[in-house]
Amino acid sequence: MAYNAGFMCGFGLSGSVWTCDGVPLSVIAAAVGTPAYVYSAATIRDRIGAFSAGFASYPHAIHYGLKANSNLAVVRVVRAAGALVDANSGGEIDVALRAGYAPGDIILTGVGKTPAEIDQAVALGVKAINAESAGELDRIAAVARARQTVARVALRVNPDVVADSHPHISTGLSTHKFGVPIREARAIARQAGARAELAFVGLHVHVGSQMLGLEPLRQAANAVVGLARELRDDHVTMEHVDLGGGLGIAYDGEEVPSADQYAAALIEIVRPSGLTLVVEPGRAIVGAAGVLLTSVVDVKPQPGGKKWFVVLDAGMSELMRPALYGAYHRIVCVEPRAADPVVCDVVGPICESSDVFGVDRLLPLPTVGAVVAVLDAGAYGSAMASNYNRHPLPAEVMVDAGAWRVVRRRQTIDDQLACEE
Ligand code: LLP
Repeated sequence: MAYNAGFMCGFGLSGSVWTCDGVPLSVIAAAVGTPAYVYSAATIRDRIGAFSAGFASYPHAIHYGLKANSNLAVVRVVRAAGALVDANSGGEIDVALRAGYAPGDIILTGVGKTPAEIDQAVALGVKAINAESAGELDRIAAVARARQTVARVALRVNPDVVADSHPHISTGLSTHKFGVPIREARAIARQAGARAELAFVGLHVHVGSQMLGLEPLRQAANAVVGLARELRDDHVTMEHVDLGGGLGIAYDGEEVPSADQYAAALIEIVRPSGLTLVVEPGRAIVGAAGVLLTSVVDVKPQPGGKKWFVVLDAGMSELMRPALYGAYHRIVCVEPRAADPVVCDVVGPICESSDVFGVDRLLPLPTVGAVVAVLDAGAYGSAMASNYNRHPLPAEVMVDAGAWRVVRRRQTIDDQLACEE
């Protein structure tokens, strides 16, 4: 469905209506219904372009963190734009293969890989399995031996770094479950490097997500580059250091390092090692490339008469981040409304008091039926949606070059019940 509007990359006001790459969001909501996720292909390409340009001066590989959003159409755009992938499960490997990736384009990460996932990754011959423990290295080696092959492994280290992000998405402290303690990593890597069933290809670290400063990333990079140097002294060679994801986005207009600044900081630390620099950005690629469209289903005054509840047809089942992390997302009415702003709590329909998208938001009081957009919902939105309250998973729409199409149809109750007795 083409829409010939003046083209604008990403989401923004065009005149007085909100558009995605030039297409009014109200047009999509009217055709597809709500709740619906809408993605901007141009924004995804633009973000991957920014990372590629930032790292251009040094050997590198950008492995998009599939967990942020693994809708097949999104992954195809990512692939066409030249990024490789980081998968966190067998399911994400399957999606990557269906999107056209080769095994050598895929890194498998994950703190709890199942025997089936290890077998899948070894059989395929993925670029690297980021191992999380000495025991897991043993299990990978056993599978490789049984399959008479050599598995490419990297070791995930835990550098004991404070990520300065929400506690739920900080992963680099020694008390966190991820990786092996940096002090033990040298011995474990040496052992792995000596095994015939394993090709030791790198070191991996990921200390957190939605980081707004570069310092934790610098500390983590220094830790793994120092370890790589020690291992070289031990005659353990490798191909890359994988510094994970974590670069934040400006949900509330805050200052965020650019892709250039991020790349420059990491290259400076890695360059003396000569190792290829791998990164796994998720949010920074797709976060701003998606919105959640949702309709107002009720409007009612709060006691005292100074505030309103605006109740939506989407809630924590469609977008979990506000309920789970107290995350802030901007909320806008997609069509203009000439009314004075009032103070609103914008809430979902789920019977839990944590099901709130925004507290004390100033909005022209929307009418029932009005469509609002929850912005910056492209990462960890649809990917974390659930069927709670038997909500169907929302429809998803890709806007590309002024045309849009449904890339995941809205789930039906029959889809849900097809898996049940
Ligand atoms: N690599 C690894 C090993 C990861 O665990 C993650 C994210 C990434 C890469 C991508 O990180 P990013 O560039 O997106 O920060 N659900 C949370 C975020 C969880 C992140 C988990 N790991 C949220 O909605 O904020």
